[in-house]
Amino acid sequence: MNRRHFLKTAVASLASTSLPRFAMAKTGGGAFQLEAVKGKGRLYGNEGGLSDLWLYNGQLPGPEIRVKRGEWVKVRFKNSLEEPTSVHWHGIRIDNAMDGVSGLTQSAVQPGETFDYEFVVPDAGTYWYHAHHMSWNQVPRGLAGPLIVEEDEPTFEPDTDITLALSDWRLDDNGVLDTASFGAMHDFSHAGRLGNWLTINGQNMPDIPVQKGRWHRLRLINMSASRILDLAPSRFGAQLIGLDGQIFDSPREVDGTIQLAPAQRMDLVMRPDGDGPVPFETMTGQPYTFANFTISNEPKNDDPLRLPNANALPEPDLNKARSLPLVMAGGAMGRMQSATKNGQELSMRELAQAGDFWAFNGQAGMGEKPFFSAKRGETIILESTNDTAFPHAIHLHGHHFRVLERNGEKLQHPDWRDTFTTQRGETVKIAFVADNPGKWLLHCHMLGHAASGMMDWFEVN
Ligand code: C2O
Ligand code: CU
Repeated sequence: MNRRHFLKTAVASLASTSLPRFAMAKTGGGAFQLEAVKGKGRLYGNEGGLSDLWLYNGQLPGPEIRVKRGEWVKVRFKNSLEEPTSVHWHGIRIDNAMDGVSGLTQSAVQPGETFDYEFVVPDAGTYWYHAHHMSWNQVPRGLAGPLIVEEDEPTFEPDTDITLALSDWRLDDNGVLDTASFGAMHDFSHAGRLGNWLTINGQNMPDIPVQKGRWHRLRLINMSASRILDLAPSRFGAQLIGLDGQIFDSPREVDGTIQLAPAQRMDLVMRPDGDGPVPFETMTGQPYTFANFTISNEPKNDDPLRLPNANALPEPDLNKARSLPLVMAGGAMGRMQSATKNGQELSMRELAQAGDFWAFNGQAGMGEKPFFSAKRGETIILESTNDTAFPHAIHLHGHHFRVLERNGEKLQHPDWRDTFTTQRGETVKIAFVADNPGKWLLHCHMLGHAASGMMDWFEVN
């Protein structure tokens, strides 16, 4: 990130703002009304200029949609942009027709049109929604918001249950969103679009008010186009209780740092005992404070920590599993010489001319045939290899999987995920039960990578 912006942050922190929280109410008929609109906002505090943003309901991030596990969720979506779009409900084991992938599960919603999303949320947890039509161009302009599915009996009070949507922005020298560089081939072929400015719930350097002596649940969501955030929960006294919406049996102390890649979520718990403020930092390079926990000094005697119950996800049957390779290749400084595109073998140069840089198993972008077809209920193991010079965050739609191994080593905690990271040269083995019928995407959540080859689909029937 840009040092100059960092230094300015420190100054801006003197005039910090408190954390905006936007929950959305349903209107008559029990539906949420969600509208994609053009808007303006100051990403760079009061000193910065106005950025052109695309927003849900004019808010940054989009309003928090909060529902109960098992609920029928109705969202009447209206597209008031000047281009087509669609809305994807990331991490929800959803009915395929409601997955919001333009060109696969629905046609894009045209300007002025509406689309009714109606679906059941089978699992409690921290999720999010975002545009899924030219996502590389729509998400990093602001089209993303939290989707929180509450447990039958929430274990935290509303004032100790805090959603923190983290976004990375690329600002120009005037503190305005750099829109000219959207779709830059250099970003697509390298680490993706990286920014130089971070916001939490749309604010830079907000205060996050917490209460002394009480347990809080922090729901972190990385809405960035490409930025992997290295976080160190122990530095602010927090422990990890879940990933990608799925809660562990017991809290975990994180040794050092843990990555929060684009689209990933992390649930933390903390019980502040000092006086604060306690910095919330990213640990990439030097620790960099991007928010502060401010601690109210009226000590409250709180109940002991109670974790929510885990969701009942289908357990992969490893003895009867089918293993498939997922080889990621391409990109700058990679070894890929050629790949097939629409059934044709193209050289790296020809691919680049068509705007493609990456491939899964030697194929750039979506194929006519699925990446694999699974019988409903079948356990699939994906043995992934990152044969590129960059990290990737691979997301499977409609399912959660266990991450079993990294570089041939069994993990102590085979956690549930819907998006897994893979570093340069790494192999990662995941397993899941393909039990949700339909056509599902499988792609890198560095959105420029997905747009330039790292995307395919699989089928369950
Ligand atoms: Cu977060 Cu294909 O999605
Ligand atoms: Cu990638």
